[in-house]
Amino acid sequence: MTAALSVDHLSKSFPDAAEEVHAVIDVTLEIADGEFVALRGPSGCGKSTLLMAAGGLLEPSGGSVSVSGTDLYSLSQDGRARFRAENIGFVFQQFHLIPYLDVRDNILAASLATGAGDEKRAEELLGHFGLTHRARHVPAALSTGEKQRAAMARALFNSPKLILADEPTGNLDRDNAESLLEQLSAFASDGGSVLLVTHDARVEGHSDRTVEISEGRLVS
Ligand SMILES: Nc1ncnc2c1ncn2[C@@H]1O[C@H](COP(=O)(O)OP(=O)(O)OP(=O)(O)O)[C@@H](O)[C@H]1O
Ligand SMILES: [Mg+2]
Repeated sequence: MTAALSVDHLSKSFPDAAEEVHAVIDVTLEIADGEFVALRGPSGCGKSTLLMAAGGLLEPSGGSVSVSGTDLYSLSQDGRARFRAENIGFVFQQFHLIPYLDVRDNILAASLATGAGDEKRAEELLGHFGLTHRARHVPAALSTGEKQRAAMARALFNSPKLILADEPTGNLDRDNAESLLEQLSAFASDGGSVLLVTHDARVEGHSDRTVEISEGRLVS
């Protein structure tokens, strides 16, 4: 069976830095359909680099990444952007909402790359995340928890197979963090896969397994 995410002997170096940085070294990792995996490790150990490479946002120096059997870096840049939009949802600590669009349009923005604008789907997600009354507000007018719920709604818009999340609870209080983790768990229970970078011990209660990384390498 093809894994939702298959990272095979992945390495990423930054040769242009003053001193070459080997951020990710020979990492092999598989995530099955419906699996929720937490990725932990000290600051600077390569977590975000690994996540971005896994999501098709950062070309690796070596190795490969497949999502549901598609080798991301054998696609053209346009092909990869489209595949990413259709199959992968991203959630970040800093939300990355578009400041001049209201919540509804931020959610609909997920459809720009796929061309499948679907207002009904946006309304449904607004309702699901308790944002209907906030639909016409720009991100600056939202609470922190609302911003992250909007980001989660956008990530889910295209019904991705995989969600990649980088410290998504980093700016949230306890209740909002808990509710976000429950949303991610629910996504996994429905058959989606989650790779979540975190320092937050609360994640352990929701993830199926934790993978540790140290100085660019997986620690088994
Ligand atoms: N564009 C870049 N150019 C040069 N070095 C980089 C670049 N991006 C990341 N690095 C380096 O790669 C290493 C891994 O960085 P990364 O951001 O993946 O760590 P991290 O585990 O996510 O850390 P944190 O927990 O602080 O977010 C660090 O030494 C970092 O300085
Ligand atoms: Mg990071």
